[in-house]
Amino acid sequence: MKLCMVGTGYVGLVTGACFADMGNEVWCVDVDEVKVRNLKAAILPIYEPGLRELVEKNLKEGRLRFAADIKYGIEDALFCFITVGTPSCEDGTADLSHIFTVARTIGQCMNQYLIVVIKSTIPVGTTEQVRDIISQELKARAMDDVRFDVVSNPEFLKEGAAVEDFMRPDRVVIGTENVGTAELMKQLYQPFVRNQNPILIMDTKSAEMTKYAANVMLAARISFMNEIAQLCDTVGGDIANIRMGISTDHRIGGQFLNAGTGYGGSCFPKDVKELIHIGRKNGLEMAIATAVHKVNERQKQYLVDMIRKRFGEKLSGMRFAVWGLAFKPQTDDMREAPSLVIVQSLINMGATIIAFDPQAIKEAQQVFKSYADHIQYVGDMMEAVNDADALVLITDWQQFRQPDFSDMKTRMHQLVVFDGRNQYEFEEMKQYGFEYYCIGRNCWEK
Ligand SMILES: NC(=O)c1ccc[n+]([C@@H]2O[C@H](COP(=O)([O-])OP(=O)(O)OC[C@H]3O[C@@H](n4cnc5c(N)ncnc54)[C@H](O)[C@@H]3O)[C@@H](O)[C@H]2O)c1
Repeated sequence: MKLCMVGTGYVGLVTGACFADMGNEVWCVDVDEVKVRNLKAAILPIYEPGLRELVEKNLKEGRLRFAADIKYGIEDALFCFITVGTPSCEDGTADLSHIFTVARTIGQCMNQYLIVVIKSTIPVGTTEQVRDIISQELKARAMDDVRFDVVSNPEFLKEGAAVEDFMRPDRVVIGTENVGTAELMKQLYQPFVRNQNPILIMDTKSAEMTKYAANVMLAARISFMNEIAQLCDTVGGDIANIRMGISTDHRIGGQFLNAGTGYGGSCFPKDVKELIHIGRKNGLEMAIATAVHKVNERQKQYLVDMIRKRFGEKLSGMRFAVWGLAFKPQTDDMREAPSLVIVQSLINMGATIIAFDPQAIKEAQQVFKSYADHIQYVGDMMEAVNDADALVLITDWQQFRQPDFSDMKTRMHQLVVFDGRNQYEFEEMKQYGFEYYCIGRNCWEK
């Protein structure tokens, strides 16, 4: 089948490459001409395990192509996926301008039957609005006899495991009221659900809302554990034990129960804010989502509060090694990463930062451009701790799990570790002579 992806970011590129790998002919389109030029040469704008290999293979075999102009992609295509960003506006509402621009362009270019599939995360009712925009554009061209359908097909992949998630989804959600369209969508996704995982057909509004419900539920689990962790630090108890104690209850399960520095990324923060907004707009206070957001904002400051408690308000002349800048491991994405809050706060208190991240340094150099005089980036985790007054671990990349503590001891100026991801054991840290601070494990008492 011939497919077109409009928007070649995390979701569009992964979706395009995975569909191409199943034998489809895929065009990935993007307004960013530099991105398109690079992708034609298999130079990827993002880091995602397995993606480079998939893009290289399918480019070489001629199933995956890139263009800046939608007309190449849409010609003869049966499906046109919309995979552009829906970032938060200042007031927390979803900015749908990219979605509507693409809808207009599709209406101006399509010449034959087309199924428009919205993969971006969109508030309830957006699929309907896209349908109206395309209809108006076709009418303006006196082509209102050309048939089309618009489907909501939210994406659930996780950055860091995006290819794996897309290739083996827990479920595929398809929102359409049209039986024929549902059948074609099922055919398209069949190669991905050979393990019998379900393709769920539902009405478009339910599909749109399913995505928000899923993300806010996951964010709620994180915020809940972070709140319990802060309580443990106040009244006692160890969040690691509590996590084990509740995750073994099969009704609760073990996912998304790690306390840490708060959630970040391009999805949870924006989707929580958008759900709050949808409620407000419709006269319903989304009390849980509001609390989830509030707890997360507080949690991003928690490690900074600990550092302040240990070293005071003024950090001038002090060097802080930072391990991990991406919002989570296996990605270079820094959108809404807790490191943004932590690093900026430390710099504002006068500290110098020596930062290491296995993938996100290029991204960090952009993001922290205005702080360039206060941050040095190094290519090795051990180099970062040289002469440091403290180590601050923000992202739990696997390589930070078992560092050579003896080596670290000889390099650091003061043996202080602030661990935002609970990677180490108190006893071991004590044996090496480190002062060890972490989340929800009552470290001030130990
Ligand atoms: N990133 C994730 O993990 C993830 C997971 C599930 C769902 N989503 C949702 O998927 C959507 C896309 O997210 P993303 O992270 O891939 O975004 P992204 O910012 O990485 O990519 C969006 C791309 O769209 C392009 N674009 C913007 N306007 C365009 C236009 N008019 N024509 C063509 N291209 C255009 C941009 O240049 C960019 O390359 C969002 O709604 C997001 O919430 C994201």
